[in-house]
Amino acid sequence: MPDNPLAPAWLQIPDDANAFAPGLWPAGMRRDPDGVAVVGGVRVDDLAARHGTPLYVLDEGEVRSRAARVRRAFTDAFERVGTVAEVYYAGKAFLSTDVARWVTQEGLRIDVASGGELAVALAAGVPAERLGFHGNNKSAQELDRAVEAGVGTIVIDSEQEIARVAAAASAHGRVQRVRLRVRSGVHAHTHEFLATAHDDQKFGVALDDAERLVSVIRAHERLEFAGLHCHIGSQIFGPEGFARSASRLVALHARLLRGGPVPELNLGGGFGIAYTSADRTGEIEETAQHIAQVVAAECEGAGIPLPVMAFEPGRYVVGPAGITLYTVGTTKPVMLEVEGVRAQRLYVSVDGGMSDNARPALYGADYSARIAGRVSVAEPVLVRVAGKHCESGDIVVDADYLPGDVAPGDILAVAATGAYCWSLSSNYNHQPRPAVVAVGDGASRAIVRGETVDDLLARDLGASTPAPADRAAEAQGEDR
Ligand SMILES: Cc1ncc(COP(=O)(O)O)c(C=O)c1O
Repeated sequence: MPDNPLAPAWLQIPDDANAFAPGLWPAGMRRDPDGVAVVGGVRVDDLAARHGTPLYVLDEGEVRSRAARVRRAFTDAFERVGTVAEVYYAGKAFLSTDVARWVTQEGLRIDVASGGELAVALAAGVPAERLGFHGNNKSAQELDRAVEAGVGTIVIDSEQEIARVAAAASAHGRVQRVRLRVRSGVHAHTHEFLATAHDDQKFGVALDDAERLVSVIRAHERLEFAGLHCHIGSQIFGPEGFARSASRLVALHARLLRGGPVPELNLGGGFGIAYTSADRTGEIEETAQHIAQVVAAECEGAGIPLPVMAFEPGRYVVGPAGITLYTVGTTKPVMLEVEGVRAQRLYVSVDGGMSDNARPALYGADYSARIAGRVSVAEPVLVRVAGKHCESGDIVVDADYLPGDVAPGDILAVAATGAYCWSLSSNYNHQPRPAVVAVGDGASRAIVRGETVDDLLARDLGASTPAPADRAAEAQGEDR
């Protein structure tokens, strides 16, 4: 079959359009003899029948093994160069009380980025001292709650926040450990909205301001300076950006040591995962070793001891452990002309969309899909999986090849939706958010209940309280 000229250059026609490519789908995802996909030992048709679609499915074993693997990768790599590494799970990727408990049991700490995430981690029973608290505009109430709860470290993101954290610490009679977030000036090679350490954006303080601000922090008796923090961005492949950022931070870290202790250095998260078969991610162990070697060499060059290191992966832990199940509602072939050649794209519309996965609309993110409810021997055709929302940019999978007989009623699975899908979900078009179901060892259980239209109506005060005319009639005792 010739390539479809509408297909992006990176997309190859698959040898088997039914196969679950390793590294893209949860490990162990397979098909039963009748062709139905099985994830965590549970058939997707059973999941769809029991919980409905769209449905987020999270493979607990995969989350746990990825959490343990990334922790080991960093602790081993830094142990080899003579220091300790602590790994925080960045809860913004996906946070529920179950996931907070799984990653805690696997030895990770948790980075929270709002009062809501803090509440979830605490409700899960995670000890507050194992939490880090981020955010470029934390409210006074959020800071107060974090200090009151005994959060291990608060990451100061601006000059104004120094006094706010100190005030919260004074109010609770505590000394609060803090880090200072700096922009290392490294522009990570990722989508513009995912790069967070270049100068023209809202996070952190400039490297040049850091020494002055650390003096201000050190002057507050209610604050204890723990070290610098930097996060260069997200969905980054290869260790070079992290290494460049690390060497700039170590130089600053060394200057700060002249004024007092600097026990830690936190280099953030951002380790990329595969969303399509074209993504080459490399092994996390190699990335960790490369960063460890750079940090060790820079510290040696500066003549300083290695600090305790910290990292904050989010997407790496949960992204590949999640899939989303949809039901196909309509299919629509569209004929187009590309440089004089006629070509067809098949639009496959599903029962969710940008409300359960905003990333394609937000970042132009690519995804991969498979028919999960059956196998097919039909020739693969180029498809675009679209949602049901009133936006032409409501795309779930921009381009993939699926068997050409994909049809209404098919269960479709989309890979690597464990991170930043549920957490970025919305009620656009009054679409209730789907449930999240954990699978493992052949069993499934909902860990986040799906919303219903009644949930949405319950917050609409015009629907949940009588209309004014009805209230007036009630007051007059009229029966309307
Ligand atoms: C400060 C900070 N740490 C960690 C992360 C996690 O990034 P990722 O999920 O790409 O690892 C983020 C993501 O935005 C972040 O802002």
